[in-house]
Amino acid sequence: MIMVTGANGQLASLTLQELADRRVPALGGSRTPSDGQRHLDFDDPTSLDLTGVSTLVLVSAGYAEDDQVIARHRALLDAAVRDGVAHVIYTSLTGTGDHLGFALAHRATEDLVKAGGLGWTIFRNGLYAELFGALLTWTPDGLESAFGDGALSAVARADLAAAAAVVAGHPTAHVAKTYDLVGAPITAGDVAERLDVAHRTIGLGEYRARLLADDALLPFQPPMLASIATSVRHGFLGSSSPDLVGLLDRPPTDALAVAADTAAAMRPGAR
Ligand SMILES: NC(=O)c1ccc[n+]([C@@H]2O[C@H](COP(=O)([O-])OP(=O)(O)OC[C@H]3O[C@@H](n4cnc5c(N)ncnc54)[C@H](OP(=O)(O)O)[C@@H]3O)[C@@H](O)[C@H]2O)c1
Repeated sequence: MIMVTGANGQLASLTLQELADRRVPALGGSRTPSDGQRHLDFDDPTSLDLTGVSTLVLVSAGYAEDDQVIARHRALLDAAVRDGVAHVIYTSLTGTGDHLGFALAHRATEDLVKAGGLGWTIFRNGLYAELFGALLTWTPDGLESAFGDGALSAVARADLAAAAAVVAGHPTAHVAKTYDLVGAPITAGDVAERLDVAHRTIGLGEYRARLLADDALLPFQPPMLASIATSVRHGFLGSSSPDLVGLLDRPPTDALAVAADTAAAMRPGAR
């Protein structure tokens, strides 16, 4: 049986849908399971029952400080070894993302996955096209960001989900493989052009000040978001890889269209 963790999350739910579309039986694990899913909270090791699971799609549970994220992943991987899981697919971070504030927890988890003695496949996922679009800010004059002219090899979540379904369906063909799953490079200017508006770049200092003033953000988020901005702006996240196209059994989604749709939906007055 395949289990996909974080079943209520966006990537995991798309992965479960992809598996269902391919008629591959799979189980969701979630902190708030719906019917037919298994309760799974990485912060509560007593909840981690992986009996009967042969292939585990471990969707990273970020959104916390590194020590908490690594402890979560370690707890689940320990349970996987204990309960006889054969293969783990871990959704990590693109290889060019080492300067990002959340890279360390991913790299530490990759080491744990490889040291566990199970079969493994690492998905080094690029940043989502949906995230790129959502990080552009609307002003009366158009879009604003701290990305400058820097390109991001953005990837649609749906493509990462489809790739996960392909590998989870035939894990033995992907043992000890690390895939760098990025799309075609896009810039904030490209998104603005697609929406027929202007794009204005702000400085990283101004961007960080805005993040720090945003009460809705958790303490770890301003440095995390600022690290995305400087990495894109200075060209660290724009490289390409053939791995996504190699895994997908259909053409990749147009990441620019996804980013533009996301930005358009956030335009004041949209809907
Ligand atoms: N590549 C990128 O651009 C990017 C951007 C943002 C995040 N990420 C990473 O990729 C992951 C998947 O992205 P996403 O868009 O699907 O995020 P998402 O929609 O926020 O889903 C994340 C899911 O992680 C699960 N989770 C969180 N804490 C957990 C815990 N303590 N125990 C068990 N499960 C826990 C939750 O699933 P349940 O609610 O079902 O328990 C949550 O819904 C994120 O968690 C994050 O690590 C990547």
